[in-house]
Amino acid sequence: MKYDFDTVIDRKGSGDLKHDLLKKLWGREDLIPLWVADMDFAVCPAIVDALKQRMQHPVFGYTGKSADFWPSVVDWIRTHHQWEVQAEWLKFIPGIVKGIGMVTNVFTEPGQKIICQPPVYHPFRITPQRNGRRVVWNPLVRRGDGYYDMDFDNLAEVCDEDCKVLILCNPHNPAGLCWSRETLVRLADFCYEHHLLVVSDEIHCDMALFGRRHVPFASVSEKARNNSITFQAPTKTFNIAGIVSSYCIVPDASIRERFFSWIEANEFDEAPLFSSVATVTAYRHGEEWRRQMLEYVEGNVLLVEDFCREHMPQIRPLRPQASFLVWLDCTALHLQHDQLTDLFVNKAHLALNDGEMFGPGGEGFMRMNVGEPRAVIRQALAQLAAAIG
Ligand SMILES: Cc1ncc(COP(=O)(O)O)c(C=O)c1O
Repeated sequence: MKYDFDTVIDRKGSGDLKHDLLKKLWGREDLIPLWVADMDFAVCPAIVDALKQRMQHPVFGYTGKSADFWPSVVDWIRTHHQWEVQAEWLKFIPGIVKGIGMVTNVFTEPGQKIICQPPVYHPFRITPQRNGRRVVWNPLVRRGDGYYDMDFDNLAEVCDEDCKVLILCNPHNPAGLCWSRETLVRLADFCYEHHLLVVSDEIHCDMALFGRRHVPFASVSEKARNNSITFQAPTKTFNIAGIVSSYCIVPDASIRERFFSWIEANEFDEAPLFSSVATVTAYRHGEEWRRQMLEYVEGNVLLVEDFCREHMPQIRPLRPQASFLVWLDCTALHLQHDQLTDLFVNKAHLALNDGEMFGPGGEGFMRMNVGEPRAVIRQALAQLAAAIG
């Protein structure tokens, strides 16, 4: 079956954040929203059908996870990432940012420190800070080819005994990086030796592009396995963020005991009824949709690259190795932050995430969501070129 990613779906009125927050965040509504990281594609029909079928039953009372929930997760991880996880390592959590908040509260005390590697997904900073923890930056180092490396020398310098957790974005948002096994092994060694628990946020892991592969952090070594909490979810990949379904993977028994008992005490592991239906259907019947979606996204990335090269060479997109977000290097425009925002918002009528929100190293960048029908991308690029012109 050929799935349709071309149709432009009007989400206005559906309560989606992408449109509803335009006025609040940018002061105007006449913007093409290419910011919040969900896609404007219709969800895989198999998932919609399974939800509809469940809705035929008129009672939506307390309901457990389906018997195939964990087997479908275990099978998915084995076939997609060649990682054999045990069912007992897994626990449902109601969202990955919430999971970061949980780790913050269970594994650190107020005033202690959490290390992040910016530019990075902003809740890695916001969630610990709002819980009274201090955030320590270990900025990524930009290479000549535009990609990034971790800075292990700086990590050794900034890491002191108050640092208790390092949050890893794997694959990395906003730059769309798939970290290499070598880098992850080195990070695992460092964190193990410095008693830093690693939280590996792998929400983008099922969207590796252009022949790249995702390497699960906990799978790279014994030290990684015994000193980590991994978060994964079907929500980004299958465009079901509004349904909310995610889980953590904790191979080490003592970390698991500490974390899972807290989660259970607070009943955060009870999956809402529709999460279970959507997750099992995505993992059992969504593979072909996922493949076609990724192929379509790759086409959008190539379109952005070609268009920028031809019509606005001052914008240099970094080809993502995973996911539907493109990191645009706009530094050649030589604009201050406010001028750059003004160009995108008031002149080009586009709402993108500006790079500064992702922390040090994000200055002069914009993050563009290309999980969109191609016509929308074309229109957005044309508006940007006209504004720059
Ligand atoms: C790296 C990363 N983690 C987590 C999330 C959000 O996950 P959740 O909605 O499960 O909190 C996002 C969404 O953009 C993300 O990019």
